[in-house]
Amino acid sequence: MSSENVVWHMHHITKDDRAKQKQQRPCILWFTGLSGSGKSTIASAVEQKLFELGHHTYLLDGDNVRHGLNKDLGFSDTDRIENIRRIGELSKLMVDAGLLVMTAFISPFKSDRRMVRDLVQSYEFIEVYMDTSLDECERRDPKGLYKKARKGEIKNFTGIDSEYEIPEAPEVVVDTVQCSISECADQVVAYLKEHKMIG
Ligand code: ADX
Repeated sequence: MSSENVVWHMHHITKDDRAKQKQQRPCILWFTGLSGSGKSTIASAVEQKLFELGHHTYLLDGDNVRHGLNKDLGFSDTDRIENIRRIGELSKLMVDAGLLVMTAFISPFKSDRRMVRDLVQSYEFIEVYMDTSLDECERRDPKGLYKKARKGEIKNFTGIDSEYEIPEAPEVVVDTVQCSISECADQVVAYLKEHKMIG
């Protein structure tokens, strides 16, 4: 093991101290759903509402992270698993820093989402499923990627020739067809209030 001679260092300022200072209980809001389902849009709206309430937040977005930290990764199953593993570890560090972390990744595989859930305390992982049908995502096609995938110009595209495993028991289910962006975001913020993650 590459880390066998590395000892965990205990620091004086704890996660609890940082959380108290920020007057919030840190957690991960894990948005999952197909490309075009509204993950980034709703996560961004949630962040804005939390920011306005005076909370300390950070949004990790698949498209952006894939330009930096994860630019070495593609869309094979192995690369997607590594993508989510890194984001899970990064989110855990951000929770330790006392933040309300939002992540917007397709994260198509149940086992990967479970892996991230198991990295933190059970109440710290909140799975937010964007329940937007493939038909609707394809109709929206904001980046023109479904069209390309249908023509065979993109391989392993989620929903077309790569699987998306629907969450079995997500903490929040968001319906972006029936509800406005603001209503969807309010639903997530309400969950945080109900569960006393924020005051
Ligand atoms: S994940 O599957 O590894 O979680 P992630 O959320 O980081 O995916 O990236 C998805 C984004 O990459 C999509 O919104 C889309 O813009 C782009 N993309 C490019 N190629 C693919 C592909 N083959 N499948 C899905 N998304 C793709």
